[in-house]
Amino acid sequence: MADQIRVLIVDDIPETRDHLTKLLGFETDIEVVGAAASGNEAVTVASQVKPDVVLMDINMPDMDGIAATEKLSAQVPTASVVMMSVQGEADYLRRSMLAGAREFLVKPFSSDELTASIRQVYTREQEKLSRMSAMPVAGVPVGASSNGTEDGGRDGQIIAIFSPKGGVGRTTVAVNLAVAAATELGKSVVLVDGSFQFGDVGVLLNLNPKNKSIADLVPELDAGEADSLDTFVINHSAGIRVLLAPPSPEMAELITPAGVRRVLDALRHGHDLVIVDCTSWFNETTLAILDAADLVLTMLSLEITSIKNMRLFLEVAEQLGYEQDKIKLVLNRADSSLGIRVSDVESSIGRKVDHTIVSDGRSVVYALNRGVPFFLSNREAQVSQDILRLAQAVAGERVAMPREDVRKTAQKKSLFSFR
Ligand SMILES: Nc1ncnc2c1ncn2[C@@H]1O[C@H](COP(=O)(O)OP(=O)(O)OP(=O)(O)O)[C@@H](O)[C@H]1O
Ligand SMILES: [Mg+2]
Repeated sequence: MADQIRVLIVDDIPETRDHLTKLLGFETDIEVVGAAASGNEAVTVASQVKPDVVLMDINMPDMDGIAATEKLSAQVPTASVVMMSVQGEADYLRRSMLAGAREFLVKPFSSDELTASIRQVYTREQEKLSRMSAMPVAGVPVGASSNGTEDGGRDGQIIAIFSPKGGVGRTTVAVNLAVAAATELGKSVVLVDGSFQFGDVGVLLNLNPKNKSIADLVPELDAGEADSLDTFVINHSAGIRVLLAPPSPEMAELITPAGVRRVLDALRHGHDLVIVDCTSWFNETTLAILDAADLVLTMLSLEITSIKNMRLFLEVAEQLGYEQDKIKLVLNRADSSLGIRVSDVESSIGRKVDHTIVSDGRSVVYALNRGVPFFLSNREAQVSQDILRLAQAVAGERVAMPREDVRKTAQKKSLFSFR
């Protein structure tokens, strides 16, 4: 291999630093370019030697590994951190990933595990950099937090994640798709919880429900206070921005279809992607979101009820004048052992499934319970790869808005008997 992977070792115990240095000394494609005994020293040394990968101990006196990782993400963003810990505790994992670590190794680990992690993290970073340099607009770095709103004139794409049946994975896909588009494709992404009564986005991202929500924003925009978006949109350390659903269901009533439209218009201005996690309740606000969307990722599962509702939804979408291309079908939890094949689904609904996402309860539920998107904590899993493929396919795709003249109020009304 021509390029060597430059590694910095950070651990407060001298024997561990020596041991790791010796282990890595056997690898021809890895070079140890420095060592540090504390978080503070790690930041200083990394700024000088510019390592590709930092092996970071989590427990250290002065600044711990998590705080050091946070500083490194800001000061030496080209260095990818592999966190090392004696405890595999969920909270440690979550905090490390949110601080910007790319991998998590639990001590004691084998030399194979160590070198595989270093190579994986390095390769992934290289792939990401080459993708970002190939993009026409310089990629927005992870933490696309800077200027979601006041950037001049750039109008992004609205992607609605919808399904005519609950529990098929809309929130899971919306959150991970947003993170994938931000971290891997360099897009500036705002994720909107459009499930106004019982939104789950905050739970998956471990956000405090006391944060401001869309219910606070709608009246501000109605009053013409367009400058105030940043007060309501949360910068999440997973590299995305988030507009939460109201903390209590009754507040959903404050959100009108016109209000939603104004919010989406304001958000699309200055973000590459506005991803909206919709409800499966087909009401006026959901309809406003679907109308405004450039693309509706409509999710289904291999269940007969989901397939039946999808058939109905496609009929309604046609009546509403949505272009065929505006709707993409995403089959979630695709698993061949469920007694229904993808081809059965396609012939039943008379349409091809556009994207599939594998079923992986282990990665998905583990991530859910820890408040870290699986796309960050388990990047290698098939389910993450499927999400990335989906992100690559949809980010940038734009379809014309439906013509107003083809929509009729009566048709809209028919939606309410839909579920
Ligand atoms: N690809 C997958 N593999 C395994 N489990 C999955 C997958 N996608 C989603 N799940 C699980 O299915 C359940 C429902 O997912 P999620 O909450 O994202 O669906 P939803 O459509 O947003 O539901 P709701 O109607 O409650 O809003 C969750 O327990 C989630 O962990
Ligand atoms: Mg949901």
